Amino acid sequence: MSERIIGIMGAIPQEINGVVNLLSNKEEHEIGQRHYYTGELNNQKVVVVYSRVGKVAAATTVSTLILEFKITELIFTGVAGGIHSNVKIGDIVLGQSLIQHDMNASPLFPTFEIPMLGKAYFEANPFQLEIATTAILDLLEEQHLHNVISEKDLNKFNIHEPQLHVGLIGSGDLFFSTTAKKEKLQQNLPEILCVEMEGAAVAQVCYEFGIPFIIIRTISDDADDHSTMDFNSFIEKVSNVYSIEIIKNIIK
Ligand code: ADE
Repeated sequence: MSERIIGIMGAIPQEINGVVNLLSNKEEHEIGQRHYYTGELNNQKVVVVYSRVGKVAAATTVSTLILEFKITELIFTGVAGGIHSNVKIGDIVLGQSLIQHDMNASPLFPTFEIPMLGKAYFEANPFQLEIATTAILDLLEEQHLHNVISEKDLNKFNIHEPQLHVGLIGSGDLFFSTTAKKEKLQQNLPEILCVEMEGAAVAQVCYEFGIPFIIIRTISDDADDHSTMDFNSFIEKVSNVYSIEIIKNIIK
């Protein structure tokens, strides 16, 4: 059996810098304009990288993790815009399945289906989902949350009793910044909980190589006309802290 090596990915540096700082025996490797950090986290071999934004960037990065760094499982962590009305800023969405909401090769292939793969939905690994669920519920427990994020910041982003949701995540090369675009997506794919720009691309590559994966997303905005407000500050004060705590809790 091959040695267990966990790939940890985010889209932007602020989403994974905190995790990079946790590594011992850290080494940096540059391939294809990406910086891969190998090292150990609680004695577990890991490789941490940020892909940059979008499906192509994410797909090339996860391919390198699989082919060059021989990862045996993948965890993606980052932010997303809330789509479903139950999903609020500060909540966490675990992707049980992922879909590319901008894939449409109809009438040659059914809408959303990846041509010649015969699939539109990519399922996360149930065992990893279970471990991540425990780790996330532990973080969202009131005392834990207040230990790692100040009352002031929780109030600033109106985060009170944040919830975990497990379900469908939609990915595409589009930042949702208007209510009109959000409503159109809600009509086409009503079961989508949140949107981001990498998860389903990562999921497709992992599926094709047989690598188990999970996608963990903190809701940073409501994917509507106000979605860019406080975006960077949210990542720094909330989602970056969530990522560190969840990863530490998953890899113990
Ligand atoms: N990631 C975080 N917020 C997003 C949004 N509104 N649209 C797409 N990706 C996002």
